[in-house]
Amino acid sequence: MLIPAILRRIAVAARFPLLARTILKRYILVMAKMNILVVGNGGREHALAWKLGQSPRAGTIFVAPGNAGTAVDAVNVDIPAEDIGALIRFAKQNVVELTVVGPEAPLVAGIVDAFQTEKLRVFGPSKGAAQLEGSKVFCKNLLQTANVATAEYYVFRDAESASRFVLDRFPDERENVPLVVKADGLAAGKGVVVCSTRPQALDAIDRIARQMEFGVAGKQLVIEERLHGPEASVLAITDGRTILTLPPAQDHKAAYDGDEGPNTGGMGAVCPTPIIDDVTLHKIEAEILVPTIHTMKRSRTPFKGVLYAGLIMTHQGPKVLEYNVRFGDPECQPLLMRLKSDLVEVLEATIDGKLDEIPPLAWDDRPCVSVVMASEGYPGPYEKGRPIRGLEEAAAIPDVKVFHSGTKLVDGQAVTAGGRVLAVTALGPSFSAAKLQAYTAVKCIRWPGAWCRKDISDKALHLPKAEVRKK
Ligand code: AMP
Ligand code: GLY
Repeated sequence: MLIPAILRRIAVAARFPLLARTILKRYILVMAKMNILVVGNGGREHALAWKLGQSPRAGTIFVAPGNAGTAVDAVNVDIPAEDIGALIRFAKQNVVELTVVGPEAPLVAGIVDAFQTEKLRVFGPSKGAAQLEGSKVFCKNLLQTANVATAEYYVFRDAESASRFVLDRFPDERENVPLVVKADGLAAGKGVVVCSTRPQALDAIDRIARQMEFGVAGKQLVIEERLHGPEASVLAITDGRTILTLPPAQDHKAAYDGDEGPNTGGMGAVCPTPIIDDVTLHKIEAEILVPTIHTMKRSRTPFKGVLYAGLIMTHQGPKVLEYNVRFGDPECQPLLMRLKSDLVEVLEATIDGKLDEIPPLAWDDRPCVSVVMASEGYPGPYEKGRPIRGLEEAAAIPDVKVFHSGTKLVDGQAVTAGGRVLAVTALGPSFSAAKLQAYTAVKCIRWPGAWCRKDISDKALHLPKAEVRKK
């Protein structure tokens, strides 16, 4: 931004008319194209690369390591998201001026601090701030300090004390045991066990803290009260001082229709979600996001990046289930499909601590529905390498974008390479229209064993019409 600033000053000094200055500024911005690196290989990273590529400022968009979708919309780089040293070398060699980190693991490992030490511009929270997701104990303690509503909780350092707590609290084995047992550290979304009975709770403690099923993530345990209510995701972009709250989204975490079956990484998402109206969103901002960001700053771990609040709407109001320190996947896909503003400008303003200086974010009024197509067997074991057909037909449907998650290119052919394979995402004038559009595209795409939930967005459709209209 230094050169545009100097030229602008020259323009002012030379008393250029306003129009000439505006044209000059546009010209300089377009000329000052920057190479951008997106780190990760999922649907979220495909959506980020696609959206960043629409910026007039975007030069080459690299994705490391990327997938078959990012190979089309950007340039893939064969470096894993965890290899921070190799990513730094790549960024230097290829004059990357902005790096955007998608997944949590490199953030928690300190990728942002490492890039900053090398004077490379990077979007995301520091290692210290990423503990909000990297440690459930850190997160719960911070929520308590910030006086933010969350489930009552207890922390344990070993399986014995945790089991004793459960047995003391629920001496009768037949009693309902409404507890949630959580591994402290990152466990790829699997370290949380929602329990109803005592054997379930004791078994969860055993698996996490004795058998160490999630490795060192189980060195500490959080046991918390089980809350009830619909869930939603409210994401905000913050530079540590200013908070831009994004429209609320809703994930569909259960594998099967009607929210049945095992937990997954997310089988679909909608944005906005009518379960959070404007009044509730304002309350979430004032009573959850703002005190969290202030407390992070006061605790000397200021938060810059995307703060993702996983919320449960209880009878007492919204409560925080968890924080993530990045865009959600698949929530990112419908969010970015609705974003009209230049994402490069927003991410740069965040890095520079100037979010208060950019215009309010502009959004497409239409709702967006994203349907995840998965491999047979997911979330259990599944086969990879199945050729995916019909992607071109699906892409030709208006207002549809097929974001790739678990795919890779083999001899120019997109094949399955993960459990969640695609996030078929569509805009429409109403939730039902967007849903129809997304499922019309889904029908074009096929590979042996492909499946998806059939009810993504029905939770929004089934709300009373007046509530849907409010959004
Ligand atoms: P987390 O990774 O902490 O968000 O947990 C994953 C999922 O577990 C959430 O999306 C909820 O469905 C469920 N969960 C976590 N904590 C609780 C809780 N205290 N009460 C009820 N369900 C919970
Ligand atoms: N959609 C849930 C997550 O990104 O963690």
